Amino acid sequence: MFQPAARHFARVQRVGNARLGEILGAFSYALDLTEGQPAGHSIRAAWIGVQLGIAAGLEGQELADCLYATLLKDLGCSSNAARVAELFVGDDRTLKQGFKLIGPDGADFLRFVEEEVGRRESEAVRSAARDHLLTHAAPILTGFIHTRCTQGATIARRLRFSENVATAIASLDEHWDGSGMPRGLAGNAIPLLSRIALIAQVADVFYMAEGASRALAEVKARADTWFDPYLVSLFVHIAGKPQFWAEVGAIHIEKSLFALEPAQCTVAVDEDYLDDIAMAFGQVIDAKSPYTGGHSNRVAFFTDRLGELLGIPAEERRPLVRGAALHDIGKLGVSNRILDKAGPLDDEEWQEMKRHAGLSRDILARVGVMRSMAMMAGSHHERLDGTGYPLGLDARTLSLETRIISVADYFDAITSPRPYRAAMPVDAALTVMAKDVGSAIDGDVFAALQTMVADGIPEQPLPKLPEMLNG
Ligand SMILES: [Fe+2]
Ligand SMILES: [Fe+2]
Repeated sequence: MFQPAARHFARVQRVGNARLGEILGAFSYALDLTEGQPAGHSIRAAWIGVQLGIAAGLEGQELADCLYATLLKDLGCSSNAARVAELFVGDDRTLKQGFKLIGPDGADFLRFVEEEVGRRESEAVRSAARDHLLTHAAPILTGFIHTRCTQGATIARRLRFSENVATAIASLDEHWDGSGMPRGLAGNAIPLLSRIALIAQVADVFYMAEGASRALAEVKARADTWFDPYLVSLFVHIAGKPQFWAEVGAIHIEKSLFALEPAQCTVAVDEDYLDDIAMAFGQVIDAKSPYTGGHSNRVAFFTDRLGELLGIPAEERRPLVRGAALHDIGKLGVSNRILDKAGPLDDEEWQEMKRHAGLSRDILARVGVMRSMAMMAGSHHERLDGTGYPLGLDARTLSLETRIISVADYFDAITSPRPYRAAMPVDAALTVMAKDVGSAIDGDVFAALQTMVADGIPEQPLPKLPEMLNG
């Protein structure tokens, strides 16, 4: 058994009575990043959705479900990012942002394809991609939406939400006239919360891009086609007041939203629930790229095991494992053109890739109960000799927790396949990593890794569940 290094323990933060809405509100900024939306899109959409829900007579649990369905409508968005980047030959985040601004008219889609597909590529590449997209437009778009909706609903259930919330997310892109996807539902067959969430999404997207009057006009124009005409009439009534848009654009929108959270639905998040939230968002991160499938989960597992070998008690490992599951959450803000590139990155692309570590830190710092994990997780690419990123921290300040996540991340990265190389066998990986002991990685943590490998790694490693940690 290794002795815990006495140095650099990060202070562990207790969960207390953290509120679900505020935690998920903070995480929703990561979903905005993935969709290429201006920061706060999910929060603003949820506020609009709740106003519309109140106008439609919702109250109590149903109103709370309305809030969460709209706030988390993009939970599945990372799952089609790689496919969007591949088929539209471009930056998935820019493409997704542009896609949300095109109208229901088929001509708008054709114009979008003409202008955006393969924007930075040669004419030959552009034209091949355009031909492919236009020939197979219906199955391609249905596939995108199906993946996103199914994954979104699955993660909502993992976050312990009701079927009301999960099915609302699964049907977000259905349209009143039956022209939506993936199931072509029409009219009242579309869940009410999906109908509300889609209006809220379109309203905020156009408000941020072109202002309040355009947002109002766009919602009105889609009555009877995309939108339930009754809900549009309610929306026109509430959004006709200038105060409505002043509130949407206000800096305190997040506070306003959670002040609305129905009191009876305010859920206090305990340690178990926080574990579930961290692992669910780990799944959102891993869905972003086919090359990182399972990475967050495995890094969480290795971190737990290394922490145990280094003598960190189970209860203190819980926040550490959450930090490990979320260490790459900033990758949601990096284009799949870079994440999935089948070759070495150029300087500009490398700088863009390196941004993810700082983004991870910034996103976690927004989550009150995870703030203590922000630095420990966001520093996983720092090195003991100070030549890492994003801050160039060194052995004087890198906590034991960060050193553990770094080793877990390094080990999983080199033993997993990447777009430009095959997975390295475990023995070879240990030989490579041994050369970095002292300069990049910690010797005690590396020794624990050797023990972990000698003990055997399960084929599908899973971090210990809370009840096992308690045991
Ligand atoms: Fe990373
Ligand atoms: Fe990583």
